[in-house]
Amino acid sequence: MSYLTVKDASKQFGGSVRALDGVSFAVERNEFFTLLGPSGCGKTTLLRSIAGFADLTAGSISLAGAALDAVPSHKRDIGMVFQDYAVFPHLTVAENVAFGLKARKVPATETATRVAEALNTVRLGAMAARLPAALSGGQQQRIGLARAMVIRPKLLLMDEPLSNLDAKLRIDLRDEIRDIQKSIGIAAIYVTHDQEEALAISDRICVMNAGRIEQIGTPQEIYADPRTIFVASFVGTMNILPQEAASHLGLESSRVHQWAIRPEHIQLDQGNLAPDSVRLAGRVEKYTYLGREAHVMAQTPAGKIVVQLADPAPSLRMEPGSAISLAFRRQDILSFDSKGVRLEGRGN
Ligand SMILES: Nc1ncnc2c1ncn2[C@@H]1O[C@H](COP(=O)(O)OP(=O)(O)O)[C@@H](O)[C@H]1O
Ligand SMILES: [Mg+2]
Repeated sequence: MSYLTVKDASKQFGGSVRALDGVSFAVERNEFFTLLGPSGCGKTTLLRSIAGFADLTAGSISLAGAALDAVPSHKRDIGMVFQDYAVFPHLTVAENVAFGLKARKVPATETATRVAEALNTVRLGAMAARLPAALSGGQQQRIGLARAMVIRPKLLLMDEPLSNLDAKLRIDLRDEIRDIQKSIGIAAIYVTHDQEEALAISDRICVMNAGRIEQIGTPQEIYADPRTIFVASFVGTMNILPQEAASHLGLESSRVHQWAIRPEHIQLDQGNLAPDSVRLAGRVEKYTYLGREAHVMAQTPAGKIVVQLADPAPSLRMEPGSAISLAFRRQDILSFDSKGVRLEGRGN
């Protein structure tokens, strides 16, 4: 049996809003599991239901073999980190972290040991006596993390914990969160709307859309083997072409509603193509040089296509309006039916 099991979870708010609509998944002990989806898709509602801050309209949740449905939130042994740091400004860093232990009536000497341990884990040991206002945003979020972990929870929930931090800090802290989760060996559910963050941090990703699960898989599966057009276009960049593009791509189109191909799977045709390559002529609309890569926006008879070139020669020039010849392999084109469901696997 899985460590955490969510079964047929639904949540209806008032009238017609279905924040969750039949959501089922399981998380293993030790796993870093991420809920990824656009704003409003139900991520926070799901996390709050697991934490016990909200009741499900239907469905059940169990943790470590026990049903949670009748267990109040403070007895669930679940740690939670929020987007806003939610630290008490008048308490020191150590007092903030000790707060949950006091509420649980843990003796003072044990509290001191556990707080010191938690602060060391998040590298705030030297800040224990400071007030939160003296700390940076990244450090304040480490307090949140220490506070969630110090209760030794069975499960760690994090709701967009890095959203308020700047880009560089986000990357540093996400790597750290991942390292801490692995080193203490705890099951974690992490919420984000940032697909790159999800790819970087997760063992498995659960892509959500409008209260439902679109796909659950490893980062590699989600990126390279998307099962729906939603996943294909939400994670990474994807060229989506209409059914009518088929004639220009030399493809069979009977049940296909949309085609999709990644920008990095398109090359410039420089006369050195594999025999099964598909060619497409077009015109350059825009060329953007980014150092390690370059992006070409091309207008073609099949539609607008973005091409990503790896390691572009600094001498490469692409003037708007100039002719361009694109090429890609048939096996890299994904096809989707009118419901947005993937039709065939890669390499067909
Ligand atoms: N307390 C509430 N009352 C009414 N509607 C809500 C409430 N909380 C969330 N919702 C609605 O439920 C849906 C999912 O919200 P939420 O779980 O916050 O999404 P996310 O965290 O993915 O952005 C949204 O349509 C939101 O407006
Ligand atoms: Mg949210």
